[in-house]
Amino acid sequence: MLKGKSLIDPSDFSKEEFREIFDLAHEIAKDPLKYKKSCEDKILATLFFEPSTRTRFSFEAAMLRLGGQVIGFSEPNSSSVAKGESIADTIRTVENYADLAVIRHPKEGAPRVAVQSVKFPVINAGDGGHLHPTQTLTDILTIEMLKGSVENKVYGFCGDLKFGRTVHSLIKFLSNYEGVRFILVSPEELTIPEFVREEITRKNVPFIEVDKLREHLKEMDFLYMTRVQKERFFNEEDYIRLKDSFILDAEKMKHAGPETYILHPLPRVNEISIDVDDDPRAQYFNQARNGMYVRMALILKLLGIK
Ligand code: NCD
Repeated sequence: MLKGKSLIDPSDFSKEEFREIFDLAHEIAKDPLKYKKSCEDKILATLFFEPSTRTRFSFEAAMLRLGGQVIGFSEPNSSSVAKGESIADTIRTVENYADLAVIRHPKEGAPRVAVQSVKFPVINAGDGGHLHPTQTLTDILTIEMLKGSVENKVYGFCGDLKFGRTVHSLIKFLSNYEGVRFILVSPEELTIPEFVREEITRKNVPFIEVDKLREHLKEMDFLYMTRVQKERFFNEEDYIRLKDSFILDAEKMKHAGPETYILHPLPRVNEISIDVDDDPRAQYFNQARNGMYVRMALILKLLGIK
C-alpha cells in the first residue's frame, strides 16, 4: 500500500511496492492520455533548492498531464528561505496548500528532516551527493523497457561514483535483485562512498573496481555514464584534473557489445561525445521521457488514486 507514503531512500519501498509503480508506469507509457483527468483536484508542490531541468520539468509535466496543478519554486531566494526560514517550517507551510511535495536540496538528509514535520507524501528529488530515488525509477523503467527485467545483468558505472547521487540510488536498488553484477569505473579519488560499498558487500553483490573503460565495455548490458559533480568539489583544481577522466565516443562504442545500452541521468558535460547520440544503444534522451511516465505513476500511487 503506497498511499500516503514518502520516498526519500530506495529502501523506503518494498520490491512489491516498486513493482506496482513500474507496472503502472508501463501502462501510462502506452496510453498517457487515459490518465489526463486522474489528478483533477490535486496540487503538487515542487521545492527546488538546487538547479534542475529534467527532474523538475518531468515532475511538473507529470502532474499537469494527470490534470493536476503545480506550485513551487526553482530559485529558493524567491521564497522565505532567503529570510532564513528552516526547511521544517517551509514544508509545514506548504502542507496547507498542496497534496504532496517534491524536494531537491544541497544538504544530504534534508528531505528526511522535512518528512518528519508533515503527514503528506514527500519525495526526495536529490539530496546533496547522497541519493536520488526518482532518477532510479526513471533508470529502472528504461532498463525494463529495453531488456524486460533488471535481473541477471552486468551494470557498468563510469565517472563520478563518489558524489553521483543517481549512482548511489541505482546501485542500492539493484543490489536487491538476483544475478546482478557491477563494474565500477572511476579514477581512484572518485570511487563509491563507504555507505554504498557497505550495502553491496552486505548483499554479496559481485563487483570490480577498475580505472579503464574500454576493455570492460563488451561484457556490460548497461553502461551508466555520469558527469563529474563540479558543485561537490572542495577545490577547482581537483575538478579540472578529474573532469575529463572518461569520455565515451563513437570510437569507444566499437568496443561495446551490440546490446550494451548507454544510460546517463543527464546533464552531460564532456563525458559522452555527441557522436554517440545517434547510436541506437544511446538511451539517455529516452530515459528523460520515461522519467515523466514513472513520476506520473509515483504521484498516482502516493495519492492513492491508482
Ligand atoms: C542528476 C542529479 O541532479 O543528480 N540529474 C538529474 O536529476 N537527472 C545528475 C547530475 O546532475 O549529474
